[in-house]
Formats: sequence, structure tokens, C-alpha cells
Amino acid sequence: MQHNLSLKPYNTFGIDVPAAWFTELTNVSELPGLTALPQEKFILGGGSNILLTQPVSGLVIHNELKGFAIEKEDNDHVWLRVASGEMWHDIVLYAINKGWGGIENLALIPGTVGASPMQNIGAYGAEVKDVIETVSFWYWKERTILTYNNRECAFGYRDSIFKSELKGKGFITSVVYKLSKYPTYNISYGAIQQELEAMGVEEPSVKAIAYAVMSIRRSKLPDPAEIGNAGSFFKNPTIPLAQFQHLHDQYPKLPSYPVSDTLIKIPAGWLIEQCGWKGYRKGDMGVHAKQALVLVNYANAKGNEIWQLSGQIVDSVKQRFGIELEREVQVW
Ligand code: EPU
Repeated sequence: MQHNLSLKPYNTFGIDVPAAWFTELTNVSELPGLTALPQEKFILGGGSNILLTQPVSGLVIHNELKGFAIEKEDNDHVWLRVASGEMWHDIVLYAINKGWGGIENLALIPGTVGASPMQNIGAYGAEVKDVIETVSFWYWKERTILTYNNRECAFGYRDSIFKSELKGKGFITSVVYKLSKYPTYNISYGAIQQELEAMGVEEPSVKAIAYAVMSIRRSKLPDPAEIGNAGSFFKNPTIPLAQFQHLHDQYPKLPSYPVSDTLIKIPAGWLIEQCGWKGYRKGDMGVHAKQALVLVNYANAKGNEIWQLSGQIVDSVKQRFGIELEREVQVW
């Protein structure tokens, strides 16, 4: 157990705040012992979806649970159980090398396997909820691991029961993904098709699709190893059709994705760019120049400065478009 340790290397935003107490979790057998400790506990995975705005006064437990294995297999599918501290992208690489489909569109998303159901990570027309079979969850109070099936996870857009009802009550220890040996490809998201063509791919494969996604992501999204960030800072808002039509009359170029007959999703990045924030920089914080949905820390920005910047962005989008943006990152 370490005392007063800087969390800067443990969050992709690169925010420098101390944890009063810090320890690594490498085996579930350590959990009963950790449970008995008096401090308030915070589980930290890849730290790729959090903004730290203040020192953490309790015990930060860094999830280093590793390992994966085939749980069962039939002619068409393989069920892969993965420990929650594995890096998500490593699992994507493993799956695409085996030719197993279902997560190739989700290549290069930073963070751990544990964050994948929590956030219901999604990109390029795919969401992880579509391949999650079960999630195992350690309950601090009950001191046991419970298993949630897909329905019980209550997945939504960047949302799950682990972010709402179960928040703070425990944490995800492993996830079972159901992957396809004969996948159907999802390349309808415009840029993937173009990228595959540019790569000279005639016959898509899970590997080719993952490489196309990686190339698109690298061209738009900052690498946290170079510029601190937590991916999309806000969710894309969903608005009623009537409100969309009114906005569309004023802004004919407003991009949109139908969610249902009455609801439309619109890209927050577009709204933020229209408000003039794209490429904005003040001191060490800013709005990424190639994707306005991503807030960045160039070196030593403070978490509460970035929090305030996000508030200014929310206010200006609200004022101009009448839409209240919701933050996607977890704020500590
Ligand atoms: N756009 C702009 N200006 C910008 C950014 C985007 O006009 O600065 C427009 C684009 O031109 C495009 C539309 O907005 O018409 C959508 O842009 P993009 O395809 O880049 O995706 P996004 O909606 O901004 C979402 C996810 C990303 C995911 C991409 C690709 C959310 C909150 N974000 O972004 O997820 O990679 O789609 O599927 O849903 C993340 O969650 O951290 C993340 C990176």
C-alpha cells in the first residue's frame, strides 16, 4: 500500500492529483482482505474515462486483474471470459488474429475490459452490448461475486446498471464476450467503407475492418500517450423530431442520425464546433483541433479548469441551440 501517490500516470487525461492511499489488485483472492480496510474505496481501471478534479482521500485500487480463457465453444461461436484489468484493445487484437468477429469496430478504444460494459463502449456503428453474454461483479457489502446477464446489465447509450444503480457498490471482475466464428461485417459507417477502399481491401475481414477503424481513429482522435484526453467528453444528444426540424430549418447542414420515429441523435462535436470551440486553447487545456468532442490537457492543466471549460461549452451550446449537453466522462 502506498501513501500520497500521484495519479498522473494512472489517468489518460494526465491530471496530477494524489491518492491518499493506493494499491494494486492482481487477484480476486485479495478482495476479502481489501474489503476489510476502513478507507473509502475507488476502483481505477485504465483511467481513460475520468476527470480528476480533486485529491482522492480514500483508497485507490488499481485494477490489475489479468487473464482470459475460452469458456465454451460451438461451431459458430466462442465465449471468451476476460479479466477486467486486461486492456480492451489487446483483446480486440487477440480476437481479430483468431478471426473472431463482433468487436473489430471497437478497435483502439482506450481503457480496460472492465470499462467496456460499464460505458457500453461504442464506435463506428457497433456497441459492446451486442456481444456481452455476462458480467461478473464484486459486491463490497455482500463480499461476493454476482453474475449479471445481458438484460440485467440494462445497457443504454454509453450507459449500464454499473454506472447507475450499482455505482460505488462494487466493481466488474470479468466479462464474457460471445464472438462469432462466421461474422457478419458492419461497415455501413461511411468512413469504414472508404478506408477499406483506400487500403485496397476487396474482401472485408475482421482484421481489415479493425485496421480501417484504427486508421480512422488515429486520424481524428488524440493519442493519450501524446496529448492527455478521455475520448468524447460529452454524449451525443438525442432530441425530439420537432426540435430537430426547427433547428434543421436554421442550420441545413446539421448532421443527424434517427434513433426512432420521434427521436434524433445529433453529434455534439458539430454543435461545439459551431460555437467556435474547436481548436480552442487556454494555457494547457483545450478542445481538440480535429474533433471538438474531445477536451485535452497539453501538459499540466488542472482537472477543475477542464471541468470549468466543459461548463462554458455546455452554456454556449445551450444558448445557441437550446440543447443541454451531458458529460460522458466520470468526474471525481
Ligand atoms: N463533427 C463535426 N465537428 C467535430 C466533430 C464531429 O462537425 O469537431 C461531425 C462530423 O463531421 C460528423 C459527426 O459530427 O458528421 C460525427 O462525428 P464522428 O464520426 O467523429 O463521431 P462522434 O459522433 O463525434 C461518436 C462517439 C465516438 C466514436 C465515434 C465514431 C460518442 C459520444 N462518441 O463520436 O466515441 O469513436 O462516434 O463512431 O458517441 C468515445 O466515446 O470516447 C468516442 C471516441
